Amino acid sequence: MIDKNTLTSNIIVFAKELDASRAVAKQIQQAIVAKQSAGQPIVLGLATGNTPKLVYQELVRMHKNEGLSFENVITFNLDEYYPMMPSHQLSYHNFMNIHLFSHVNMLPENINIPYGQWSKAELIEKCKIYDEKIQQLGGIDIQLLGIGRNGHIGFNEPGSTMDTCTRLIDLHETTRNDAAKDFEGLHNVPYQAITMGIQTITSARKILLLALGERKSVIVHKALTGEITSDVPASYLRVLPQIEFIFDKEAAALINR
Ligand code: F6R
Repeated sequence: MIDKNTLTSNIIVFAKELDASRAVAKQIQQAIVAKQSAGQPIVLGLATGNTPKLVYQELVRMHKNEGLSFENVITFNLDEYYPMMPSHQLSYHNFMNIHLFSHVNMLPENINIPYGQWSKAELIEKCKIYDEKIQQLGGIDIQLLGIGRNGHIGFNEPGSTMDTCTRLIDLHETTRNDAAKDFEGLHNVPYQAITMGIQTITSARKILLLALGERKSVIVHKALTGEITSDVPASYLRVLPQIEFIFDKEAAALINR
């Protein structure tokens, strides 16, 4: 039985979004280097959206200025719009290339992103293979997450349960509205996406959820202090021992009170 008053102690609040993002990048860097020293690969679960941009900027800086190598890094992205061409300007494939992959020495064969052009007939099998590949590689070492204003993680929209795996999902109204500006109109926003499931995400050995800005303060408060429920998928995270919530002070404003 989960106590709804459980508030995780793994919360770090930074004065500025840059400091919060740098702290996340530092943890990722340290983990990459530790695995390199052990002669092992590292498996990272990656997010897109506004939130991780400064994290990726910092990792690119570390690669260029401090010699951080990505040769042993294997990545699995959380999600992709469906249908979506990888070459589309707003695809998450393109996002990752722009913000990280094209600037570092990742091996192309180590990059995994759900493919927005899988046919409906092959989707279930391809999603299963995506999860199996993660498992075969020993699971995700560090999973980076943002949080949607409706409490989604990845594109696990309200209603997503703990036992969900990678799958096709209908996007929630809030999610589509939040994407409307980028897509120059709600009518251009895809109605569906492929997302890693909550089970896939919560199997990671370390989870870093980053939330920045005042617009996330209400959902951060709800996810951390409200009921643990599929209505707010991020609420599942706070009872996990491997979770770390990293906020700037605007995102943490309501839980600070
Ligand atoms: C993106 C993802 C989403 C975003 C969330 C927040 O890969 O998984 O859950 O993290 O929608 O988006 P931003 O960061 O744009 O506020």
